[in-house]
Amino acid sequence: MSWGRKERCIEPPKLSGQDTADILAYLYTAHYFDPRASARRGANLVQDRGCTGCHAVRGKGGRAAADFATSTVVGTPASVVASMWNDGPRMEAAVPKQGVALPSLSGQELADISAFLNSLHKREAPKSVPK
Ligand code: HEC
Repeated sequence: MSWGRKERCIEPPKLSGQDTADILAYLYTAHYFDPRASARRGANLVQDRGCTGCHAVRGKGGRAAADFATSTVVGTPASVVASMWNDGPRMEAAVPKQGVALPSLSGQELADISAFLNSLHKREAPKSVPK
């Protein structure tokens, strides 16, 4: 997944939860994601790929953006992808302030990160996908 949309003159489309679920279903059937997503690898990735430069995990990490453990949008892989897509421009805007770059992620890395973020919310009731 690439964050760089600056070279395009069009607004990126807003994805609804349903759109994202449909796209994810397509990517899964296309074997884009490895079904053996690993929350442990995801936990390492959010450190290694610089997410925690802006985001915190249970209070540890950056202060510029939502704490992954208390985020209300993180509930299903679809909602994570929808919010990362929809917040992409806001994340890009935070880059100069935080002095950290947004990484591009492979499908595998995104799947692992989704598994990790969802594992933070395991004991809560499933959340509805944002509209
Ligand atoms: C340059 C700072 C920055 C970096 C680096 C960054 N983000 Fe973000 N992120 C933001 C901002 C700003 C928002 C939108 C405001 C907010 O949610 O606090 C956001 C929102 C999100 C959201 C939605 C959270 C919510 O509750 O609304 C998710 C999920 C997310 N980012 C995931 C990631 C992941 C995964 C990475 C690493 C691959 C990452 N971000 C790296 C700044 C950043």
